Formats: sequence, structure tokens, C-alpha cells
Amino acid sequence: MRTTAAAVVMVMLCMKMVQANVKPQRDFDLQRFAGKWYRVGLAYDSPSFVPYRDKVKASMGIITTLPNGNVNLTMWDATPLGCQTQLYQYENATVPGQFTYFSTRHNMVKDITVVDTNYTEYALVLKHKVFNIEYTQVALYGRSPKVRNDVIQKFKAFALSRGLSRESVLTPPPAENCPPADSER
Ligand SMILES: *[C@@H]1O[C@H](CO)[C@@H](O)[C@H](O)[C@H]1NC(C)=O
Ligand SMILES: *[C@@H]1O[C@H](CO)[C@@H](O)[C@H](O)[C@H]1NC(C)=O
Ligand SMILES: *[C@@H]1O[C@H](CO)[C@@H](O)[C@H](O)[C@H]1NC(C)=O
Repeated sequence: MRTTAAAVVMVMLCMKMVQANVKPQRDFDLQRFAGKWYRVGLAYDSPSFVPYRDKVKASMGIITTLPNGNVNLTMWDATPLGCQTQLYQYENATVPGQFTYFSTRHNMVKDITVVDTNYTEYALVLKHKVFNIEYTQVALYGRSPKVRNDVIQKFKAFALSRGLSRESVLTPPPAENCPPADSER
């Protein structure tokens, strides 16, 4: 019994350490991060998401910045009901490159960390909830619907290092006509 408790504490400490070492992109520049991105990679281990893995598409999103450092992310998702837009509001946290976000789906506040970006090509983003792999997501955003293979490899390695399973790491095909060609900015 005692060893079990000790093991639990050890695991929690290890998780906390893993948690603590996620640093955002150094000298994060919000203005350069704004604009159009494609979510070309997604790693997500939630059991409720497994049935949707083969239906995911590389959605397009636009990041607009607000004067206080908050961010609006508009995503276009190809769904069985057609192309739908969704707005996500990320709140500026105390460290540049870090945001918080209230997930209506999970009814909890999550942390968003822009782990690595070169602004003109890719951004590696971690969405997480301390201690719970089920609510952890790693996303790879590209400025275009296709990114270089070494960037994809970097994304995969990072997702695995966060404890996500190999099967959870997806590089979905582009969304077709979503947003509809005539409305694309
Ligand atoms: C985000 O919040 C931090 C801490 O309050 C602040 O220092 C920073 O200037 C804000 N970022 C922007 C882009 O306004
Ligand atoms: C961000 O989203 C909020 C809520 O919909 C909206 O009121 C606000 O105008 C948006 N800001 C920008 C800069 O898009
Ligand atoms: C970012 O990616 C682009 C596209 O491959 C590349 O040309 C550029 O050199 C990269 N910038 C940095 C700072 O790595």
C-alpha cells in the first residue's frame, strides 16, 4: 500500500517535471505569429477522439491579435454538416508565447504554449492540462498546407516526448473547399 502511494507520488513528480520543462518559443513575437495557418499535424490521445482520427482534415485557421495580447483563432473545420467556423479565444498569460483557454468541451481551463515557431513556416503548439494525458494535444501549424518533412519529424518527436502514443500522431490531408474557395481571404 505504502509502495503504491510512493509510486503515485513519484509518477506525479515526474509528470510535474515534464510539465515544468515546456518553455515557449524564446522572444515570442505575437504580431509575427498572427495571420493564416493550416493545422497540418495533430496528436491527441483522448479515447473519445479515436473514432474521428481518420476523418481529420488539415483545417485552416486565422489568428488575430487583440491589443492586450489576447488572441482570437478562427478555424474552418470540414465536418459531416459542411464547412463550419469556430472561434477560439486564447488569453494572454504572464509569459509571452503562453495562453490560457477555456475548453467548453471539457469544461476546464487549459494552457496553450507555442513551443517552437519560425513564424514564416511552422508553429508547434502544445495544449495541455496538468497531469492528464487525455486532455493533451500537440498541433503542428504550417503557413501552407504542406510543410517540410524535417518539420513533421520534429512535430512527431515532440508529441512522443509528451507521452502521446504513436497512433495518435496524425498528419491529415488538406480540407477540400473549406473554407469555400470564394470566401478565402
Ligand atoms: C501579455 O501579458 C503580459 C503580462 O501581463 C504582458 O507583459 C505582455 O505585454 C502582454 N502581451 C501583449 C502582447 O500585450
Ligand atoms: C474576438 O472575438 C470576440 C468574441 O467573438 C469579438 O467580440 C472580438 O471582436 C474579436 N476580436 C477580433 C480582433 O477579431
Ligand atoms: C523558417 O522556414 C523557412 C521556410 O523553410 C525558411 O526559409 C527559413 O529560413 C526558416 N527560418 C528560420 C529562422 O529557421
